[in-house]
Amino acid sequence: MSQKAVLVTGGAGYIGSHTVIELLEAGREVVVYDNLTNASYEAVRRIEKITGKKPIFYKADILDKKALLEVFSRHSIGSVIHFAGLKAVGESTQIPLDYYYNNITGTIILLQAMKEANVKNIVFSSSATVYGEPPIIPIPETCPTDAKSPYGRTKLFVEHVIRDLCTAEKDWNAALLRYFNPAGAHPSGILGENPTGIPNNLMPYFAQVAIGKRECLSVFGNDYPTRDGTCIRDYIHVVDLAQGHLAALKKLEEKPGCVEYNLGTGIGSTVLEMVKAFNKAVGRELPYKITDRRPGDVPNLTADPTKANKELGWKVKFTLDEACASLWKWQSENPDGLEGYPSEAPAECVLDYLH
Ligand code: NAD
Ligand code: WQD
Repeated sequence: MSQKAVLVTGGAGYIGSHTVIELLEAGREVVVYDNLTNASYEAVRRIEKITGKKPIFYKADILDKKALLEVFSRHSIGSVIHFAGLKAVGESTQIPLDYYYNNITGTIILLQAMKEANVKNIVFSSSATVYGEPPIIPIPETCPTDAKSPYGRTKLFVEHVIRDLCTAEKDWNAALLRYFNPAGAHPSGILGENPTGIPNNLMPYFAQVAIGKRECLSVFGNDYPTRDGTCIRDYIHVVDLAQGHLAALKKLEEKPGCVEYNLGTGIGSTVLEMVKAFNKAVGRELPYKITDRRPGDVPNLTADPTKANKELGWKVKFTLDEACASLWKWQSENPDGLEGYPSEAPAECVLDYLH
């Protein structure tokens, strides 16, 4: 019997597009569903360039239940990987209503459409940010949660929504994947993160310093209680993260109910260690300066990935040096990311019952 298709919301975005590549390369049928608010259609073309396969694509919104139902009726879908969402922590403090509406209401509408279409397997993009300032390092899934930003609270709340649904209706299965810090790009150099404006995150910012778009990296604080005073994070190669989703999909076939997994390496790196690792990939010393702490940053977020290793049979394969090398290949070969390529989806891919 042939496997049913996977609907990937947010599949044109950074982590979603890399996951679509891994799914296609594993022979899965994929339907990408993205409103392109933070992505370009060029990402879909690049997916095809890498895999030789054209994913089915819809430009549509998860807030648009009619469009979702239309897609579920057109394709035989067995599960959903749900990446779609707004993700900038700082921005979420400025426009919290947009974050709560898009991320929480959007997910509820998606779940309602799934229920109507009788599709009851979901993999959800949660985040290590749900742990707040964790009392235990490395962090196990059992660690108390305490999200500190509107963005983080959207992730935590959606986790509760999905858990409650799985408790109430036993035919639902869900994997709540708490990602640590995704880094790197596809090793081909053809696809990678494509931030708009000034990057918020360390590695895309530093990559823009390396190509001369930004002058100097600001290292936010060197007075944290860590080995060199800068914050520790668990940077995971985006292709390893993508592979974690394939493992989670497989897990759902065992009908586990609702399960949470940390997707991280288990190895923490300080900001200064990341500077050194990326300098090595680029082959020269890039400029940085120590500045004040960034409000909201916590000293250490390092995963304990034991549960995912054991229960998903998944383990990271790439090293930090490989993540840095892939980021540099992507950035140096695409200095403007996907800018300058046609970003709009072909008209026949657009579904919109909201406007
Ligand atoms: P991204 O912004 O590159 O991808 C998200 C995609 O969702 C974008 O392509 C965007 O156009 C789409 N989207 C947003 N709202 C939508 C809507 N209403 N309907 C349809 N599509 C919509 O982000 P990413 O880094 O790939 O993150 C993917 C998911 O993982 C997000 O949910 C994010 O919160 C979560 N996450 C990301 C990180 C990270 O550091 N990148 C860490 C932990 C969790
Ligand atoms: C990493 C480290 C900064 C930029 C964020 C979200 C989190 C998750 C992943 C979605 C920190 C330092 C950064 C810079 C710096 N996303 N830094 N100079 O904050 O760990 O996590 O992305 O779920 O929710 O909060 O990632 O890359 O912004 O920062 O010194 O210009 O680099 O202080 O220690 P963060 P980041």
